[in-house]
Amino acid sequence: MARLEAAFDLDRIEAGGPASHDELVRRIAGKHGLLSMVTDTIDRAVIEAGTALRVIANVAVGYNNVDVPAARERGIIVTNTPDVLTDATADLTLALILAVTRRLGEGERMVRRGDWKGWAFDQLLGMQLRGRQLGIVGWGRIGQAVAERAAAFGMTIAHTSRSSTGMPLDRLLSTSDIVSLHVPLTPDTRHMIGQPELARMKRSAYLINTTRGPVVDETALAWALKNRLISGAALDVYEREPEVHPDLLPLENVVLAPHLGSATTETRTAMADLAASNAIAVLEGKPPLTPVP
Ligand code: DGY
Repeated sequence: MARLEAAFDLDRIEAGGPASHDELVRRIAGKHGLLSMVTDTIDRAVIEAGTALRVIANVAVGYNNVDVPAARERGIIVTNTPDVLTDATADLTLALILAVTRRLGEGERMVRRGDWKGWAFDQLLGMQLRGRQLGIVGWGRIGQAVAERAAAFGMTIAHTSRSSTGMPLDRLLSTSDIVSLHVPLTPDTRHMIGQPELARMKRSAYLINTTRGPVVDETALAWALKNRLISGAALDVYEREPEVHPDLLPLENVVLAPHLGSATTETRTAMADLAASNAIAVLEGKPPLTPVP
């Protein structure tokens, strides 16, 4: 950020939350570069209001919040922050797998409520990971980093893939003990996991989502959890953040995290640096480091 400040006039929106759409449209006029967060909707209206805009540097690996075709039509370069958040997001995925299979949320709530009566032989029994199959949907950087960690816990890995080397989704869903989602949000992946897919999973299985909320149909998930069609779920992302489907909130068998995938100091610093480097490169007439594909 200091490098940006040194080289350019900055207009910071520090509203203590995402800027409103109207504010973005108003303040983008005359700006050459935009650093946007996942919570900013950079749609056609914002892009068209940015008549001087040359680069949109999204501070995230996902860029479903940016209308990339609208930007491209106007010759605006869009960049994201891949790689630097892979480890943090994979670590959080493992944290969620452990939290839901070992019932940590339930246990924590019990202790805080003052309901814990002491150690008991059959208290909050969970599922051990060794020998279990982890099904990874989306075999990109983060999916592969999750697989590497899961292997250290003795899990076997199955994964889907865009090439013919992966397992078909239907078979992955019906054979995995834990299914972890790592596909980007696109029109093809929206509600990729709905009622039929949840019904295909083992009753003893768990679903983990650290990618984007709309990949899962939350209403269907709440139904599946309530009716014990699957054993549990752990979510870091939601369909309408920061709203969480009201039917999920009372359920004991779901772990709910507030979109923490990349939230380490090291990673957020690296993301900000990379986004700033992308913006500076384009504004200095050089190729960006990490343009979106
Ligand atoms: C991303 O990078 O896409 C995350 O969801 C934001 O940290």
